[in-house]
Amino acid sequence: MTGGASLNKEEAAKLLEAAERARKNAYAPYSGFSVGAALLFENGETVLGCNVENSSYGLSICAERNAMTTALTMGLRRPTAVAVAGPDGVLCTPCGACRQFLAEFNPDMSVIIKAAEGGRIYTLKELLPLTFSLEGE
Ligand code: THU
Repeated sequence: MTGGASLNKEEAAKLLEAAERARKNAYAPYSGFSVGAALLFENGETVLGCNVENSSYGLSICAERNAMTTALTMGLRRPTAVAVAGPDGVLCTPCGACRQFLAEFNPDMSVIIKAAEGGRIYTLKELLPLTFSLEGE
């Protein structure tokens, strides 16, 4: 696990395992690219999401946004971390839309990305500098 953040290595590895579990439920018949995401909350709860595609391609949703909308439905609003797992050998970094979507709920969250060497840890702010917000800078 490489990179600095408030999460310890064990917590990060556990969250990545949860994302990997969610990946198994991905519905990705069009791209063949399965993704799982796991959000961690301060109360210790973990919420999972997978990508869900549609024959009307534009309706597809990424794993990260799917997890976040589930969390909101459960009354959980401020994730402290998200882990993302894509296919083996692929560094599946969250897309731009997911970065902005997640930043709404905590721009300081840690982002753990499955990598060949285990996982890489970033902060969302690092991945989305100058995040759009109605307040500006
Ligand atoms: N995808 C995600 O679920 N998360 C990402 O971070 C990147 C891409 C999905 C969208 C689509 O279903 C498939 O991966 C290929 O782009």
